[in-house]
Amino acid sequence: MPMPSSAALNAPNDLEPFWMPFTSNRAFKKRPRLLASAKDMHYVTPDGRQVIDGSAGLWCTNAGHNRAPIVAAIQAQAAEMDYAPPFQFAHPKAFELASRIAALAPGDLDHVFFCNSGSEAVDTALKIALAYHNVRGNASRVRLIGRERGYHGVGFGGVAVGGIVNNRKQFGALLAGVDHLSHTYNRAEQAFSVDQPEWGGHLADELDRLVALHDASTIAAVIVEPMAGSTGVIPSPKGYLQKLRSICDKHGILLIFDEVITGYGRLGYAFAAERYGVVPDMITFAKGITSGSVPMGGVLVRKHIYDAFMQGPEHIIELFHGYTYSAHPLACAAGLATLDLYREEGLFERARKLEKPWADAALGLKGLPNVLDIRPVGMTVGIDLASRPDGAGKRGFEALDAGFFDHDIMFRAVGDTLALSPPLIVSESQIGEIFDKVGRIIKAVA
Ligand SMILES: Cc1ncc(COP(=O)(O)O)c(C=O)c1O
Repeated sequence: MPMPSSAALNAPNDLEPFWMPFTSNRAFKKRPRLLASAKDMHYVTPDGRQVIDGSAGLWCTNAGHNRAPIVAAIQAQAAEMDYAPPFQFAHPKAFELASRIAALAPGDLDHVFFCNSGSEAVDTALKIALAYHNVRGNASRVRLIGRERGYHGVGFGGVAVGGIVNNRKQFGALLAGVDHLSHTYNRAEQAFSVDQPEWGGHLADELDRLVALHDASTIAAVIVEPMAGSTGVIPSPKGYLQKLRSICDKHGILLIFDEVITGYGRLGYAFAAERYGVVPDMITFAKGITSGSVPMGGVLVRKHIYDAFMQGPEHIIELFHGYTYSAHPLACAAGLATLDLYREEGLFERARKLEKPWADAALGLKGLPNVLDIRPVGMTVGIDLASRPDGAGKRGFEALDAGFFDHDIMFRAVGDTLALSPPLIVSESQIGEIFDKVGRIIKAVA
């Protein structure tokens, strides 16, 4: 194969080689939505337009963009030590960050396993669940239970327990031994509820049904998002999480909360587990831990799980799992600076205070054309629009496109659901601006 000439290396960017993830590549490459820089609440396009960030990037820049203390921490770490192997060696900031995260978590979620993304965090948690039962002599506990409409990333484990059909249907049989709870959304019963709907707590009883079907002795863990984000913002119904907890306790099943979106302030607390008063056995996190600045994910694990592994000869590796970039120094430095910023600026408390004006402004869109439901919870909201007769997802895509090009706003469109989740530094006037723009866009795509 010929080497590229230096002229080719200097050629202007070609949009073709980059196969973009979760993107309609052909539509994008015809009309690219390019972002060149960012600061606080805004992105800036290559042609200099300021675009307000209505989605915290991809649910991750909770502290706002390019915050000076985070940038400085990353720069200083890059200059001091670029990389340290996390297998049999470590660097001090990894321990410091794990301690800080454990201190933020409720109950005895005292141990942190680091990885690089939400997907890795989920697969790590599922593997820890299987291995936990194995080391305790319960090797028959191999089944994993997820939920319809759940999103747990794109690893084979996460897709297997996930419940979004488009993410599953092209990828074969996935993991064996997985079952799913029903999703908890029912528009007729729940439309326009704020936070947890009154209807639907009884759906947790399905776990008892699955136990009756499979027997508890075959079930390792249940994984749910306390608020299902990627499917379009579906908060758990009242009492649902508590019920799952008690059924898991009754049968020795581990309960995993996937808090990749809900962690680090999105619902006004370090973790949704605290908001809803339910302590799971493991919490997966990513995104907000570094405010999106450096890839990082992890799993918080309760003491009894960690302790179950800490047996036998001390030179033996207790868990044969980990990533080259687990606890990467740049990510740890960014994580520490981010947690400092959350604390110094009281961003979780700020999210709690803004929750009501946020919900009120979102619900102000009720009655606009095609608006079928609005679901505010914490500092996020899902807005369902009616599908166009000629195709599900078309109106949502048009809204996303019009938002970026005509109204200088970015948000997520999941099918025909608009999902908003701004950085937690958003001001009340910016909340007004965001919903004013969204209202105009909804009218524009009517
Ligand atoms: C609940 C949940 N779990 C896992 C993931 C996957 O995270 P990542 O894209 O970092 O792999 C996401 C991403 O949005 C998520 O929302």
